[in-house]
Amino acid sequence: MSKLSNINYTECDEKFIWHPFTHQLNKKSAINIVKGEGVYLIDDKGNKYIDAVSSWWVNLHGHCHPYISKKISEQLYQLEHSIFSDFTHPKAIELAAALLSILPSNQHKLFYSDDGSTAVEVALKMALQYWNNRSENKHIFIAFENAYHGDTFGSMSVGDRNVFNKAFESLLFEVIHVPLPTSENMSDLKAQFNALFQQKNIAGFIFEPLVQGAAGMLMYEAKYLNELLLLCQQNGVITIADEVMTGFGRTGKNFACDYLNTAPDIICLSKGLTGGYMPLGITTCSEHIYKAFLQNDKTKTFFHGHSYTANPLACTAALANFDVLCASETQKNIQLICDAHNNFLEKIKHHAALKSVRQTGTILAFEIASNDKLNYLNEGLNNLQDFFIARGIILRPLGNIFYLITPYCVTLNQLHYIYSTIEIYLNELLN
Ligand SMILES: Cc1ncc(COP(=O)(O)O)c(C=O)c1O
Repeated sequence: MSKLSNINYTECDEKFIWHPFTHQLNKKSAINIVKGEGVYLIDDKGNKYIDAVSSWWVNLHGHCHPYISKKISEQLYQLEHSIFSDFTHPKAIELAAALLSILPSNQHKLFYSDDGSTAVEVALKMALQYWNNRSENKHIFIAFENAYHGDTFGSMSVGDRNVFNKAFESLLFEVIHVPLPTSENMSDLKAQFNALFQQKNIAGFIFEPLVQGAAGMLMYEAKYLNELLLLCQQNGVITIADEVMTGFGRTGKNFACDYLNTAPDIICLSKGLTGGYMPLGITTCSEHIYKAFLQNDKTKTFFHGHSYTANPLACTAALANFDVLCASETQKNIQLICDAHNNFLEKIKHHAALKSVRQTGTILAFEIASNDKLNYLNEGLNNLQDFFIARGIILRPLGNIFYLITPYCVTLNQLHYIYSTIEIYLNELLN
């Protein structure tokens, strides 16, 4: 075992670590974050940054939240982990009861996994095996163009075919991608759904409700999604809401599904689930989905499970996160963020550097006017990150788009600082 005294972190990071979604040649040194404090991340030089992207959309109430940290530390001395097949534990049970009390009322059973991708993977396998258990050959999914559902093979398959998964394209299963619904295409889209139900063995329809995150915060209206869900329901097609990004208040309500009249059959949760403390995925389903697995024939069992299923520390984090989310102060702050974003949107929307600015709840996205087509690899905004880092704000562009998804503990003063810095950035783009 080598001694780690006098370690040069930058050197060792570059030497040993392969970071996610990072072009490996000519990469910049990663900023070494050594502390989290509320809305701030603090690096090894003492620089403080407002985490305006909630650390890839996971953090809800700020870093090192005293209540959540305390609950986890107490749990650390009670039970760190135990097997979850034939065994259970109080935190998993309490969390299941808590979540089912705020999810759409048709949700009946809850299945634990590790992260957003595995929550989606479980949902897809549940839907496919639902049909298999009923001896029906349905295996094709409908998904939206530009969708992103994760990086495992199933979740990549239902995602858009793009640079994220190009190397694996020949191995991805058949999925029919349709455009997001709009007032103009709604009747064509419904006709396309009906035709697909007749011609293809459609197993299910998966969607990011109201906001497609990784696509660049593309937004669409609940009323159109409702119509599609109703159509699926009338045709017995399983509907899967991927609330991995939209869940836990991001859209202004607890879940984006709370804007819908037709509840989905399956819901995927992760990211904000633990308040950004620990990886945890959850897939919930309605009773009729679960019933397809209630058979004497043991081969109809759902043979899926991860070593760390329902990790008690992660469940404790999620329960503490749930308490903080439900507190009236948090709910009030979510509404304050929605209102502040809306005021800024009204102020900035005609800025000459912007093609558009859009908002759903606490999510505010800015699309820069550019001739380039949206693409994760666009170089157009490659100075954006440095510009904001130099001013103490963490933002990451997605092609021509950048966005705010802050923790809910952000203050109005901090928001106004972010807004004014954005205005300076937009003005500089015009020079
Ligand atoms: C809608 C959606 N689903 C699934 C995922 C995958 O989640 P994870 O990165 O935790 O695997 C993401 C990640 O950004 C997401 O936005």
